[in-house]
Formats: sequence, C-alpha cells, structure tokens
Amino acid sequence: MPVTCVVGAQWGDEGKARIVDLLSADADLVVRYQGGANTGHTVVVNGETVKLHLIPVGVLRPGCVSVIGNGCVLDPRVLFEELHMLRDTGHAVSGEGLRISDRAHLVLPYHRALDAAYERGRGAGRIGTTGRGIGPCYADKVAYKGLRVADLFDDAELDARVRAQCEEKNRVLGALGSEAVDAGETLAELRSYCDRLAPFVEDTVAFLRRALSAGKRVLCEGAQATLLDVDHGTYPFVSASSSSVLGVPSGSGIPPRAISRTVLVAKAYTTRVGEGPFPTEDAGPEGARIRERGREFGTTTGRPRRCGWFDAVAVRYACTLCDADELAVTKLDILSGFDRLRISVAYDVDGRRVDRFPADLASLRKARPVYRDLEGFSGDLSGCRSLSDLPPAARAFVDAVAETVGFPVHLVSVGADRAQYLTR
Ligand code: IMP
Repeated sequence: MPVTCVVGAQWGDEGKARIVDLLSADADLVVRYQGGANTGHTVVVNGETVKLHLIPVGVLRPGCVSVIGNGCVLDPRVLFEELHMLRDTGHAVSGEGLRISDRAHLVLPYHRALDAAYERGRGAGRIGTTGRGIGPCYADKVAYKGLRVADLFDDAELDARVRAQCEEKNRVLGALGSEAVDAGETLAELRSYCDRLAPFVEDTVAFLRRALSAGKRVLCEGAQATLLDVDHGTYPFVSASSSSVLGVPSGSGIPPRAISRTVLVAKAYTTRVGEGPFPTEDAGPEGARIRERGREFGTTTGRPRRCGWFDAVAVRYACTLCDADELAVTKLDILSGFDRLRISVAYDVDGRRVDRFPADLASLRKARPVYRDLEGFSGDLSGCRSLSDLPPAARAFVDAVAETVGFPVHLVSVGADRAQYLTR
C-alpha cells in the first residue's frame, strides 16, 4: 500500500479473487480498472461461495469501498443482477460502498449480439470469447462510437446515439445473418436503469485522487490476465482490455508512481479457457486429472478449461512485463497425488531452444516445452500455514517455481477458504 495491484500472470482464472480478498483486509478501496462481466471471480468466505463477474471482490469486506473504474466496460443488466444476488446473500451494497465511473463504457445488447455473430463467422478461427459483448464494446470505444455511463443522464443525446448505433449495428448483424436489435427496447431498458444507477455514479478519477491524498490504501483488482492483455498477450487470442498492470493508470486514473506493490498471481499449473496457443497444454490423462481435481470449469461460461503444467517461460514474461514485486502461487493443493510434477523452463521451436516468450503465433504454436521434472508429493496441504509445514517435495516445487520464474514467491494458497494459505 498505498496502491497494491494484483494481476494474473497466465491466461486468467489464476485465483486472483482469492488473493484480492486476502489483501483487501488491509485496503480501504478495491478498484477494477479493465474488463467487464467476462470476469469470473470466485471467493469462499466462511464456507460460502460467492461468484462475481463485474463488481470488485472488495464488496465482500465490510467498510471497503469498491470502484469500477473508467477502463471497465459496464453491462448494467449484469450489474443489477449482481447487486440483487449480493443483497439476497446478505452482502447488500450501498451507494457509498460502490462507486462507478461516469466514463466507463456501456455494454449494450447489440454488443452481445455482435460478439456471438463474429464468433460464428470466425468458424474454426474463433477466439472462444465469453459472449459478454466485451470485444465489440471496446471496439466501439476506440472507434468513437461508444456510449458511456455519463450519457445515460442526457436523455436527448442518449436517444439519438442509441438509435444511430442500433441502425448501424443492425446493418452489420443483418449481413452476418443475425437477428436485429430493437432500438426502442434498448432505450427503454437503459432508461429503466438511470435512477437506480445514479447513486453509484461518480468521477472516480477525482474520487481516487482524493482518497490517495487522504492516505487511503488502494488495492487494484486485475481481471483476465497478462497473457490475455490486448497489447501484450497472445494476440489475437486475447481479451480486449489492458489486463496487465500497465492498464492501471489509464483504466483508473491512479498515477503510475502511486503504485507501490505489484503482486502477480499464477496457479501451480496452467489453464486456458477459449482458443489460442498454450505450449504446456496436456490434452492427455494428466491434464484431465488436473481439470477434475482443480474443478477447472469456467465461472462465467461453465466451459471446461484446457489444462497443463506450469509454464515458467510465460510467467517470467508476465512478471517481467509487470515489474512484479512478488509472485503468489495458488492451488498448490491440487497437485497433491501426482507422482511427477513438471515445469516448462524453456521452449523448443524447430529444434532451437527459446527462453523468451515469443510474440508470433507460429512460434507459440510450434513451441514444445522443455520440462524440468520434479518429484510429486501427496497428502492434504490445507492445514499448512508456513513453507516449513509443506511436504519437502511440495516445498521443492515452490522453490523451483521461484527459481525458474526469477521472482520471489511470497504467498501460496493450499485450499479455497480464506484461511487456507501460507506466507513466506
Ligand atoms: P472475451 O473477453 O469474452 O472477449 O474473450 C476473449 C478471450 O479471453 C477468450 O479466450 C476468453 O475465454 C478469455 N477470457 C475472458 N475473460 C476471462 C477470464 O476472466 N478468465 C479466463 N479467460 C477469460
């Protein structure tokens, strides 16, 4: 603190929410700075599982203020579903507890329709998006066609812009063989949100600057992950936002120099949901066993995740890009019971050893992992609270992760519950 950032080091689903939840005990504000309802953040609090897609995990800490920053894309439908779910499960959120940027872009029904239509059109080349309209919404933002939260409160402007956009989008949807969206219905839905949304809306950049000046402690919650970052990930198999730590200043207004600690989060193995290169993927029985043990099915889509071994080349790339202070390793307990554990320390591309994460898809597709094999461990790790409590082979695995990535591991999770983790 004052500003700690928690960011994924792989292709998402690393268990960032769990780390954010832990660190939020010392935070006054939790901020999301990119992405939208494509996110699936799961937290287990006292045996109760809470799944969030849009609202920062900080809402589960009484007294902590959650902020949806200007770099996020806001689907009001999902927002109100989530607010209702939180109220019904005893975590009601007040206006003071959740601040939403007036500059965040809105995800509208035509973005979801376009997401589905583009994916169908890509055929075998599909990205495997979550279908939440994220790419088309960010595309409108940079094409100067987006609608922002602030626009909801200027009815004449809203009417004109929504009608013009629906007309344009319907031409595209028609050409792609998809159903048109109804401008009147879209407008009516948006208008129905205005009064309910108003108490949450704020210039969050100014709000965060005031909070920082007042010495408040801020935690930035990354969604997706560094390898899904639109600039730095495995393009085009990425999400549309700046999901490495480099997105924090532009997506929240927090000045770069205010960031004091960056925690990268990686699972003890690797998963990927959706298409795209994944050098350490194990499509055989060991990958299937990781999936079963780790319950690796998408929070947002329910899709089975592709699974494989820990990739130190990829995580090193992410940690270096983000200038990580430390690495948090999650789900170590899932690897219990394997005879042999593997870490990819380099790639073999056309017979050449490659130590750096390549930019081009062709090399990534051809990359064969060069593995370091380690002895497996067994037993229940959930009661371990320090590295010395771990079985020697589990500890050796954590040490090998730190050594091969080249960044220190300060936190290891050994179970889903809030208390089940250990620190160095
Ligand atoms: P989109 O963000 O829905 O456009 O999807 C683009 C790519 O990012 C797809 O491969 C998705 O599966 C992936 N993706 C998006 N959000 C997440 C996430 O929260 N976890 C893991 N993968 C994600």
